[in-house]
Amino acid sequence: DVRSLQDRYEDSFAIGAAVEPYQLEGIQGEILKHHYNSIVAENVMKPINIHPEEKRYDFEEADKIVQFAKENDMEVRFHNLVWHSQVPDWFFLDKEGNKMVEETSPKQQEKNKRLLLKRLEKHIKTIVKRYKDDVDSWDVVNEVIDEYASNDRALRESPWYQITGTDYIKTAFETARKYADEDAKLYINDYNTEVEPKRTYLYNLVVELLEEGVPIDGVGHQAHIQLGWPSLQETEDAINMFADLGLDNQITELDVSIYGWPPAPAYESYDAIPDSVFQTQADRYSDLFELFERLDDKISNVTFWGIADNHTWLDDRAEEYNDGAGKDAPFVFDPDYNVKPAYWTIID
Ligand code: XIL
Repeated sequence: DVRSLQDRYEDSFAIGAAVEPYQLEGIQGEILKHHYNSIVAENVMKPINIHPEEKRYDFEEADKIVQFAKENDMEVRFHNLVWHSQVPDWFFLDKEGNKMVEETSPKQQEKNKRLLLKRLEKHIKTIVKRYKDDVDSWDVVNEVIDEYASNDRALRESPWYQITGTDYIKTAFETARKYADEDAKLYINDYNTEVEPKRTYLYNLVVELLEEGVPIDGVGHQAHIQLGWPSLQETEDAINMFADLGLDNQITELDVSIYGWPPAPAYESYDAIPDSVFQTQADRYSDLFELFERLDDKISNVTFWGIADNHTWLDDRAEEYNDGAGKDAPFVFDPDYNVKPAYWTIID
């Protein structure tokens, strides 16, 4: 029975994990209860799962996670209310079933915008009211910055943006604020928040929204990182930058891939990954948690995007982008739920 992560960081921030409901049982359930005091749904609270049709919500799977959190006195992060991915198409079809983004007449565009914002409001109102008493942190919008977008503010050109401009972001935060518990915090969540130029694009948007009175409480840094990228300094600067605006920071989807930078060969199986890689990873985790601890008045939650190396989205991504190359191993527990070197460096 090893010392728990939540106990180790009790004075600094909550420690969370992303889960699918099936992981709440058995040994994974035990690990969750022991090591973590915060939880987030890896998929089941996303719009496509929780609100698959305009008139149908499916709360069953989401409820299981909330129930588990209640029983075990854990914080809940809600991920997410608005995203361009894993969102059902119905949001973006007009009443005749035409794609809103293809509409060219200004009058119809205006109508579509109103309809979409109304749908968004209803979506958020329904979900936030249901989980008001249970959720501590809401990912209100996810990944709204795209540094490769062709507009000069790097606003992601999702259907949300194409149809409403930045109004969907404002409506989302305002609606969430209206119905959420007054102590619950609202986040703008994104990846690569550490690196330029994306970091500055995000910063500029946040400043602009705050000036307009949009109720943002904090920035969620996904932190899908690699052994050698981004630099610790970049992570530190990003956290300080947003803290200087008076905002909270959360690390929302932490994993440390053994691929990416520096380049690594594609290991065919878990057993083929050399010990030296796990040692390097342990050092990396150690540096990160040392930083997080040092900045702990600016960070309220550190959540891993999974529990153990037997289940990570990085493996599916490798499938998609790299011909299935390389089993990844991003967490502090191995596929059999044993602690890895990285566990010891962040505990000590
Ligand atoms: C991922 C899940 O982990 C996968 O199971 C799913 O197939 C795709 O989405 N950024 C996010 C998360 O904000 O919602 C993503 O989660 C990972 C990247």
